[in-house]
Amino acid sequence: MGDRHPMTGNEMSGAEAGGMERHRYDVVVVGAGGAGLRAAIAAHEAGARTAIVCKSLLGKAHTVMAEGGIAAAMGNRWPEDNWEVHFRDTMRGGKMLNNWRMAQLHAQEAPERVLELEDWGALFDRTDDGLISQRDFGGHRYARLAHVGDRTGLEMIRTLQQRAVALGIDVFMECTVTELLKVDGAIAGAFAYWRETGRFVVFEAPSVVLATGGIGKSFKVTSNSWEYTGDGHALALRAGAALINMEFVQFHPTGMVWPPSVKGLLVTESVRGDGGILTNSEGKRFMFDYIPEYFRDETADTVEEADRWYEDKKNNRRPPELLPRDEVARAINSEIKAGRGTPHGGIYLDIASRRSPDFIRKRLPSMYHQFKELADVDITQEPMEIGPTCHYVMGGIEVDADTELSAVPGLYAVGECSGGMHGSNRLGGNSLSDLLVFGRRAGEAAASYCVSLGEGRPAVRAEDVKAAERDALAPFEVATGPGGGTENPYTIQQDLQQSMNDLVGIIRTRPELERSLEELRRLRERARRMTVEGHRQYNPGWHLALDLRNMLLVSECIARAALEREESRGGHTRDDFPGPSPEWGAKNLVLRLAADGSAVDLAHQPLPVMPDELKKFFE
Ligand code: FUM
Repeated sequence: MGDRHPMTGNEMSGAEAGGMERHRYDVVVVGAGGAGLRAAIAAHEAGARTAIVCKSLLGKAHTVMAEGGIAAAMGNRWPEDNWEVHFRDTMRGGKMLNNWRMAQLHAQEAPERVLELEDWGALFDRTDDGLISQRDFGGHRYARLAHVGDRTGLEMIRTLQQRAVALGIDVFMECTVTELLKVDGAIAGAFAYWRETGRFVVFEAPSVVLATGGIGKSFKVTSNSWEYTGDGHALALRAGAALINMEFVQFHPTGMVWPPSVKGLLVTESVRGDGGILTNSEGKRFMFDYIPEYFRDETADTVEEADRWYEDKKNNRRPPELLPRDEVARAINSEIKAGRGTPHGGIYLDIASRRSPDFIRKRLPSMYHQFKELADVDITQEPMEIGPTCHYVMGGIEVDADTELSAVPGLYAVGECSGGMHGSNRLGGNSLSDLLVFGRRAGEAAASYCVSLGEGRPAVRAEDVKAAERDALAPFEVATGPGGGTENPYTIQQDLQQSMNDLVGIIRTRPELERSLEELRRLRERARRMTVEGHRQYNPGWHLALDLRNMLLVSECIARAALEREESRGGHTRDDFPGPSPEWGAKNLVLRLAADGSAVDLAHQPLPVMPDELKKFFE
């Protein structure tokens, strides 16, 4: 009988003999945000021995940055709402590049997932009739975001986390997965290290669900925190899965711009959903000048009509501040570039002149405190200064719509690290419903795949573990040759963030994208000369060096795809190719790692064909 793990109580083979810590599960979920937690709950409930492995602390996830609500056509405020309208809004918001089947499942199943969350203890705000309250958000025809003030993501995480812990699901916190282990092309497990001790750990499991979130930390101005380095995207690529739509990066229109220490921190879309307006330094409500043809029939073009929207959706069109995020972010960017920005380089977001202080404090308590404490601004009295911030990547691991299975048997992906669902632009609030709907589906599919294997589970090979160990320790090897060991991970990360911000940001051009690829080549070169000091016990420099491999690989995918797609659509705007093209609107860009791992291959792939009974919503 071996030692028992102090956190999980599981037997640890190998560790007591001075070997490597090992654990056996049916399903290992990598990531503990909403998607990971929901997948783990589903896998556990389907009878699988399940573990969650996360590089940060349980509950610390980008999910909490989806503050405004969960999009679900429950019809609590507008009985006219239903899954078909939600499906249509989602496809139009994504400019029709969404995987139609995912968008359909998402719209159909979201209401049930919200009610289930309530059953598990989530405390939603209520309507006067006692139903779950729903608020307006950009691109949604009806007020449809179930919310808890402006802390919805936090409440979701709290609820899911409590349930996962109550079910007894094992959690490995501050444990980073660096490699997926395969046998005969199928998943056999994952290799990881404990951030505190630097010791290695092997998880043997035939099903791995990636739920690692996004890539925001490759950009300088972002709402993402340190964890979001594209780990799942890179792990999947290296394991042989494909990425799609990586050119589509969402810049949330409203991040803080001042003070510099919090630049990029999210200012929830709920401010606009609840009536806030955008004005420039000349006091002009400028969004009326930026209504695109595509959304003209749905968007109010007078202040009077815009203001009536909140009470009367049947006869009115939504305010231009509630256009989808890509449209609003581009408009803000243009105003700032035209010299009509605020003293700190943003635009004004004003709810003080539109709603009472009581309303603001009740509906937007976090925003009230965030601005008071961080910027000394009272949002009940004065406008906020905001600007776009890198928030979300629409691109991700290509998966089967119904099961979230990638091209690699046993490898599933959910939430932000998966691709397809949101097309070229995600509507606000659709991420929380996405991770509930597809988290559950992935967890169930991963568990049933395990059962289907019976006794034929793949066994992790010793040589693969050795190789993963060697790779993980490589940053300690002082690079030899000219300039060996002269680079450190922090400066490389800083330069990467600056370059992605400047060259692969909201507005892109061919020369800048070519320069970004050249920059990335130089950064990869520098990373080969990178070395870290000290030892394996809590060594953030080493951790960053390992994360940087993922960041560099995924950033290359973004820049390559952005250069290839010669049109503007959703979260990809090419100054040299303004507007969408019908030819590009019919295909995805797919990225795979070449067999020897040396290059990223890019291919064009036609979109799945939408059945006629769904096409009719767009006629
Ligand atoms: O603005 C927000 O509250 C963010 C929501 C989301 O990204 O879905």
